[in-house]
Amino acid sequence: MLKLGLLSLLACAALVRAETGYDAWLRYAPLEGAALERYRLTVPAVVAVLDPSPVAMSARAEIVRGVKGMLGRTLREESSVPKESAIVMGTVAQLGGLIPAVTLAPDAFWLKSTTQGTGHFIVIAASNDRGLLYGAFALLRKITLGEGLANLDLRETPYAPVRWVNHWDRLNGTIERGYGGNSIFWENDHVRQDLTRVADYARLLASIGIDACSINNVNADPRLLTAEYTPEIARIADAMRPWGVRVAISVDFGSPQSLGKLDTFDPLDPRVAAWWKAHVDELYAAAPDLAGIVLKADSEGRVGPSAYHRTHADAANVVARALAPHGGLLFYRGFVYDHHMDWQNLKNDRGRAAYDNFHALDGQFEANVIVQIKNGPIDFQVREPASPLFGGLEKTNQAIELQVTQEYFGQARHTVFLVPYWKETLDFDMHAAAGDSTLKALAAGKTFHRPTGGFVGVVNAGLDENWFGNHLSQANLYGYGRLAWNPDLSSQKIADEWTRLTFGANPKVDQTITQMQLTSWRTYENYTGPLGLQTLTDITGDHYGVNVEASERNGWGQWHRADEAGVGMDRTVATGTGYIGQYRPAVADRFESLASCPDDLLLFLHHVPYTHRLHSGKTVIQYIYDSHYEVAAAVSAYVEQWKSLRGLVDEQRFNDVLTQLEYQAGQAVVWRDAVTTWFYRASKIADAKGLVDHYPGRVEAESMTLAGYTVRDISEPTPGRANGPPIVTPAEDASGGKVVACPTGAKSCTASTKFAGQPGWYTLRVEYFDQANGVAHYRAWVNGQAVDEWAADLRLPSIRLDSTTSTRRTIAGIALRPGDEIRIEGVPDGGEVAALDYLEIVAEK
Ligand code: GCU
Repeated sequence: MLKLGLLSLLACAALVRAETGYDAWLRYAPLEGAALERYRLTVPAVVAVLDPSPVAMSARAEIVRGVKGMLGRTLREESSVPKESAIVMGTVAQLGGLIPAVTLAPDAFWLKSTTQGTGHFIVIAASNDRGLLYGAFALLRKITLGEGLANLDLRETPYAPVRWVNHWDRLNGTIERGYGGNSIFWENDHVRQDLTRVADYARLLASIGIDACSINNVNADPRLLTAEYTPEIARIADAMRPWGVRVAISVDFGSPQSLGKLDTFDPLDPRVAAWWKAHVDELYAAAPDLAGIVLKADSEGRVGPSAYHRTHADAANVVARALAPHGGLLFYRGFVYDHHMDWQNLKNDRGRAAYDNFHALDGQFEANVIVQIKNGPIDFQVREPASPLFGGLEKTNQAIELQVTQEYFGQARHTVFLVPYWKETLDFDMHAAAGDSTLKALAAGKTFHRPTGGFVGVVNAGLDENWFGNHLSQANLYGYGRLAWNPDLSSQKIADEWTRLTFGANPKVDQTITQMQLTSWRTYENYTGPLGLQTLTDITGDHYGVNVEASERNGWGQWHRADEAGVGMDRTVATGTGYIGQYRPAVADRFESLASCPDDLLLFLHHVPYTHRLHSGKTVIQYIYDSHYEVAAAVSAYVEQWKSLRGLVDEQRFNDVLTQLEYQAGQAVVWRDAVTTWFYRASKIADAKGLVDHYPGRVEAESMTLAGYTVRDISEPTPGRANGPPIVTPAEDASGGKVVACPTGAKSCTASTKFAGQPGWYTLRVEYFDQANGVAHYRAWVNGQAVDEWAADLRLPSIRLDSTTSTRRTIAGIALRPGDEIRIEGVPDGGEVAALDYLEIVAEK
């Protein structure tokens, strides 16, 4: 009895663990019913691998693991072709006559069913062990997705040789722009002792065809090149190697001077070249399959070749020559721009920088250099056109850099599935040559027959159980890998695959989540920066909340130039910065003319009056208003759609995602109100629908009856920090431009109001501020009866009272009669002042 109890407890524990999100899309959940029966009949009892390498062993182990999970059967492991039916894995040569002789490219695989004697075989053939691994994952994916295994004949070749991920992890264990916890690689300035997570991560990467991973921030810590770290880097390489993932590192270009004690880091100085060679040789002695090096130079304060009036080619080549004998690649980042530009000069344009810096150097880079170019010309904004540099390099290898970590995309607190965005960019025709010159073909080196090229994703997965801090964000890594393998896959196919692998085969679950994911980028765009405005976020701060003007009047060059008269950056050749002229004529002509410029990019490329009519017939200002209201409603609808999955998704992930979506629904309103208010004040054009600046049912906290709370407006400094930033800035971040705050040290404060509407059922929405410097507590009362309480304990990236910390608490099902008193009590904690913005009283249907 006791034993049974313990067993079922253990089984339960396994179930619970499996649903933390740790297993991501590799859950191998048990199949049921007809599917189980079908695969039990078609999957043989033996798995044989003819290749003895560790990567091939991983492939075999994965098949055993997957089949055990899904079919509840443990396959017998063999190392030669058995007489009986089996899954057999090997190179074409090792497989002998089992399949016809074919030539497979590196990493490609062929899944083929065949019969020999009395045996039925499912063959996984490849030209190398990584191909076997990718074939094994493909076979398991087929079973999870319910695809038939009879007459199997699937041959897949990766689209591009380069399918990398970059991590921006610091040696101290924190991650620049990481939203899923601390580093899986680093802790306290050393590689972590326990690298189990690293191996598990490598497995996830392998399952989507990724074969290299850089393990430290592009803003590189020079110490990484000291001898002390070499064996540590090698340990990470050892942990990832069984999954066919090679390690790369980022380096600091000043290292020969700062570490090597040379008096220079001039790339043309022979001593500097010798220094790089010696260090690279040392690295390869410890980790012979190192994939290469990533270099960010002359960018955002990093030193670079400009210190010696040398070119980016000189800088890239000196490191590339050291790597070449080892077969290593040097990724030189194209993200080079001046962040001290004079914003008053209307001809200045950060968007021009990548092309201006690299186009003239085409042909001067070594064969093992890849210029790594961000998808757009600025910096991972919510929408940007494809960077013109992709069409401007013919004799240089290139790779597209995509940001999987959601820096400007709601930092994993908002659901934003990026595959549709990436697809638009990858499919964009740069018109750079007669044949296929879509961006994907250029990046992969196909258009100009380059030796290498491809994809780099900035991932920043962390120690959170679900890797990213948001279950739905996992779809971005999955989608990135699938696109790097095959950019011709549709967004729909990728979303659907991911959903079924991650949440199971229930059609309602699949349809609901897939639809939500597919619409989420457009939704997020329409509250954070429609029509090519970029992301109207706090670009000099946390890159999260709203701050429409943060991009203006500074040298960073993310300008949108919105003022009383109009909005948008004039990047035309005729009257603007000339950026559009960096595209080939077919693209440039389309962008230059207002008549043919796509609405989605209008304000990125043109400056227009607010009354300018879009192709849809709507004015720009009315589009800004309408789109914000539409998408705030759309995110609320996501919450309802998700709720309809209760009981169909395991409880833990159901609740986690529900909490996240409810939070996002509140944030979409904060963005809506802030952006529409700002543009209304600037343009002085009223909303034709009468919604903007009118909030029925809203009671501003500053107009409630206050006990202890004091009203703060935008000019006052943050409490406790006399010279700190103003309490609410910018003004549009708070409804009515004011908030109420409870002085630090006070026991508690209250804000109350008398209800004056019709009797009935209501939802109360309390907009409060959840700063990062304390955990304030709140209670809500109706006529002295406590109806809710909560703690302001989210991990939001700000200590200020602004849109980043503005958070919504929803209290549903409250009966109200005229004269009822609604009271909110706030208890401050640390620097957190239990601030309130407003209370909204919404009649329930
Ligand atoms: C962005 C990001 C930085 C990062 C940089 C880069 O600007 O905010 O944190 O260092 O990109 O790509 O190098």
